[in-house]
Amino acid sequence: METPVIALLHNPLKTSVHDPLVMPLHKAQDAVAGSDVESMGQAQDRCEPVSEAWLDELALGLSEHGWMSLDVRARLGDNLLAALKQEVQILDRTDAMKKAGIGRGNDLVRDRSVRRDKIAWLQGVTAPQAALFEFFEVIREGLNQRLFLGLKRFETHYATYHSGDFYKQHLDSFRGRASRVVSLVLYLNEDWQSSDGGALQVFNRDNDHEVCGTVLPEAGRMALFMSEEVPHEVLPANRTRYSLACWFRQDEVPLPL
Ligand code: OGA
Ligand code: MN
Repeated sequence: METPVIALLHNPLKTSVHDPLVMPLHKAQDAVAGSDVESMGQAQDRCEPVSEAWLDELALGLSEHGWMSLDVRARLGDNLLAALKQEVQILDRTDAMKKAGIGRGNDLVRDRSVRRDKIAWLQGVTAPQAALFEFFEVIREGLNQRLFLGLKRFETHYATYHSGDFYKQHLDSFRGRASRVVSLVLYLNEDWQSSDGGALQVFNRDNDHEVCGTVLPEAGRMALFMSEEVPHEVLPANRTRYSLACWFRQDEVPLPL
């Protein structure tokens, strides 16, 4: 039986930029559980379902503080996190990941003094990506119901920071443009230590010199913040750092990626 929250998902008109292959969450998780990742000997996942109370928590964090960090390992499950990490590692070994730029389309600038990560956009077509997109879709609907943000879709990319890579302090969206409204980052690295660098630093909305939070990019940790308001920075990594970023957008028309 599907929970009411999950049932909200089955509207293909309101999914992501790429109209991912939408399948019920439990099916996607079965697909992941049956993949090579499980045959590597990992324990079967027992995922906590997304609850209304959990969505309330996200909405409260965003509305009161503009940002929050939380652990979603139990909700996504170890198998899904491992499968996503495997995907980004494979992409990283090929030429599929491109140097990230600043801006879009014709305005794209690749400035290595600002950011040095490599990215690859997700299409939502593999089983792990479909499961992840279902999760993001629940968050999109949940935030819309609680905060009336009018989030229409989301876009997601993997990112790899190799040793020495960073992303200087920035906002994810220009003020007033209301394109990217909520940012989400999910980390995929096991046993990340402070000495590995690569922390996300979150600054005060009203004072971009004041650090108000530091998030280590440990697998299953998720950061969520208001894209136009919260300055943030990725400190130089001392080992390879895998993550994925998702932006919930108010605009409907996909931009060139
Ligand atoms: C970004 C970003 C933060 C992180 O991709 O815009 O700020 O911790 N990422 O990876
Ligand atoms: Mn950012």
